[in-house]
Formats: sequence, structure tokens, C-alpha cells
Amino acid sequence: MSTEQKKDLNQYYLDTYTKEASVYDQRRWTSKGGSKAKSLRNAYFFDILRKYNLIQPEKKIIDVASGTGRVALELVTFGYKKVVACDLTNAMLDVSRSKLPAQYKDILEYHVADMKKLPFSDASFDGATLGAFLYLIPLEEYPAYTKDIHRVLQKDGILVCEVMNQLHFFNPFKAVMKFWHRHVRGKKIKSHAYPWELKKAFAPFEVVDIIGTDFPAVMTIFGDGFLRFLSRSPLTKYFGGRFVVGLKK
Ligand SMILES: C[S@@+](CC[C@H](N)C(=O)[O-])C[C@H]1O[C@@H](n2cnc3c(N)ncnc32)[C@H](O)[C@@H]1O
Repeated sequence: MSTEQKKDLNQYYLDTYTKEASVYDQRRWTSKGGSKAKSLRNAYFFDILRKYNLIQPEKKIIDVASGTGRVALELVTFGYKKVVACDLTNAMLDVSRSKLPAQYKDILEYHVADMKKLPFSDASFDGATLGAFLYLIPLEEYPAYTKDIHRVLQKDGILVCEVMNQLHFFNPFKAVMKFWHRHVRGKKIKSHAYPWELKKAFAPFEVVDIIGTDFPAVMTIFGDGFLRFLSRSPLTKYFGGRFVVGLKK
């Protein structure tokens, strides 16, 4: 199916991820590189939640487009009384359920739900996480897709999400491919954002944190400390392959 034909994105992603659920983790997170990327990216999510005092038992957190539980299954280990995971397809949530250790069964609550119509009342969460999702939709659609997360967050609530970076200074080949995809072929999905587009893409959220990730694998030879330095340094954080972004309501 071409990008232009993907008119009904919900149906398309419902079909795609229902089919992919049983192999999703093996394709993404279980290789050596995948598991390293997952632990680094998750750590940045939790750094932002921690910075805004959201890692506390009473805080209510929702993991949106939770999938097989990459973020949610780690969130539950932090002592929360309740964490909510929602996704469009039950097949992805089923994989997450199958990995959930017995002691967290009453903590993690699963909902099959479209993120544009979340079945929760206004201001019912302190924080939200949205991992590996936004690149699936056109940049112009970010406000429409994050609007309902904004609604269910408390005032000053924080959403942590990931955005593919259009500037990929450390990997010129990928930067050229992204540029070609977006500007020459005019493809809207998979979307990549320039850093200066984030403010508009997420309004009315305020962008309060940007951490750079996805530096070329070869840099791991310098150690995790070096990667964390690149991720946070104002000089280099804008040039990784992806951002972990903190947004405040
Ligand atoms: C690439 S996976 C990311 C899963 C997980 N967050 C992770 O980081 O591994 C994208 C997920 O978004 C879900 N999804 C797609 N459209 C959605 C929507 N409108 N509302 C909720 N979830 C959606 C898919 O079912 C899929 O599980």
C-alpha cells in the first residue's frame, strides 16, 4: 500500500500491528543493539518523568500506544499503585500481558483504545508516555493525535514522546534519505521533524525537554557515558537520529 493510500490510518495500523504482534519484540528489541537502544531510550523517558516528580506511587501514568509494553512493563517496576496501558490492538497488548510478572497484575491496567478517543475523564493522569509512535503519522497530524492526551492530563502534566529527527548530522546517509523521503518524494509518513518544528507540532503543549538519541552504533565503543553526553549536550543533542521530548500541558 502506498503512503497516499493509507487514508484510514487506524484500520491500517490495526491490521499491521495485529499481524506483527507475535514477532514485534524480536524485530525491535531483543537483538543486542535493539535491547541497548530500548534501555537507553527508556532511561531518557524515566529521566524526564523523574525531573517532574512523576515517579511516585500516587502519580497516575498512562502509556499510550503501549504495544508490547516496552515502556509500561518498566514503569510498573517503579512502585506506582496504578499504571494504564492502552493500544489500538489487543494483539499487541496480549504480548505485553504475557510478559507482565505476576506481582504487577493488579498494577497494570490494559485498555484497547484509540489515542484520539481515550476512555478517561479530563485531567485524570499526571503523566503520559508515547514511545515509537509519532513517526507513523504525518507531522501535521501531531496536534490531532496528542489532543486527547492533553485533555486527560492534569494541569502541568507531562507527556514524554519520541520524534524522528530530520537532521541526522552524525549519520549523513540517513539524513540524506530522510530529506529525500520528505522533500523530494513528498512522503508524509514516516514523519521526521526538524528541531525548530517541535514547538508548532505539539502546541498547545509546551516543549520543556529535548534529549537526543540514536547516535551511530559505532559510538557505543566509547561507552554509555559518552552517548549520554552526546544526548544532552546542547551542541550535539540536535543531531542524533531521534529525540525524546518532554511536553508540559
Ligand atoms: C511502533 S508500535 C510502538 C509500541 C510501543 N510503544 C513501543 O515503543 O514499542 C506502534 C503502536 O501504536 C499503536 N497504534 C497505532 N495507532 C494507534 C491509535 N490511533 N491509538 C492507539 N494506539 C495506536 C499500534 O497498535 C502499535 O502497537
